Amino acid sequence: MNNKTIAVMTSGGDAPGMNAAIRAVVRTAIHQNLSVFGIYEGYNGLINGEIMPLNRRSVGNIIQKGGTFLKTSRCQTFKHKSGRRRAANKLEEWNINGLIVIGGDGSFKGAHYLHEEQDVPVIGIPATIDNDIYGTDQTIGYDTAVTTALDSIDKIRDTAASHNRLFIVEVMGRDAGFIAQYVGIAGGAEEILVPERKSDLEELGENIKMWEKAGKGSSLIVVAEGDDLGNAHTIAKKVKEEFGVESRICILGHTQRGGSPSAADRLLASRLGYYSVKKFQEGEEDVMLGWQNNEVNVVPLTHTWEKEKKLDKDLVEMYKILAS
Ligand code: F6P
Repeated sequence: MNNKTIAVMTSGGDAPGMNAAIRAVVRTAIHQNLSVFGIYEGYNGLINGEIMPLNRRSVGNIIQKGGTFLKTSRCQTFKHKSGRRRAANKLEEWNINGLIVIGGDGSFKGAHYLHEEQDVPVIGIPATIDNDIYGTDQTIGYDTAVTTALDSIDKIRDTAASHNRLFIVEVMGRDAGFIAQYVGIAGGAEEILVPERKSDLEELGENIKMWEKAGKGSSLIVVAEGDDLGNAHTIAKKVKEEFGVESRICILGHTQRGGSPSAADRLLASRLGYYSVKKFQEGEEDVMLGWQNNEVNVVPLTHTWEKEKKLDKDLVEMYKILAS
């Protein structure tokens, strides 16, 4: 395959490490004698023609920065065939013959249909703090997000212990519990509630009593925002109404998305950015590149939302024993 010009964009929720991935794409592409363009504000920018040439210096001094200097968006227009046609026309106008999309599974869905309907070669790089993408051990941004969340949880434990309080900490993840499970274990939480497991209010009430009996002054529940029992506010209300237990809540929210990427995220982003250009030149398209079992993993884009990445169930018994 002899594609001479590629474009790179970030799409969906931002994630720490996106800048490192853009940098890797741009510098590898230039090294491989490809021209490279940056598309601003994701698919919205593509449809509106917000496209700029990038060079090695355009991506200088960004590897350590959170967010994405190309900016990002969640684009409704791109969900329709007409929007994707407009996007493909823009790419043709700019003589761009390949697109690297850095984002999550929603962005990959759009990329897949752009390929299927408009014949645009696309490659996806997984970047979302949620870590809910099949085909890669971790997504770009997850490591930083859990480190940020853990830092807050450690601080909450100080005040929880000082007041002998129950705290309910809500973390992001949409309908996935990867962040909650990771920081719950790493933060020594008594209970971790995730959408992947049915949560039971009665059982939670019994556990709270058990922690008290076991002599625990303070305790911590980490809940994923998409849990079936509800968010932190709802759970706190139910626990008060049903069991008369007072609690405090903390919603970590978008703090989890910001900040300088961790070393692990920078390395992952650099690797996947580099390989995206190499694989593109080898003729791969309509695929995502993951990093799995210490090597690059090429998966069809469709698998990224059709197949489910599973939480490690063995960890449930472990955290319960360790938090006893
Ligand atoms: O997908 C990343 C994520 O941060 C989810 O964890 C969260 O549910 C969602 O994005 C929030 O999106 P927004 O910033 O558009 O409100």
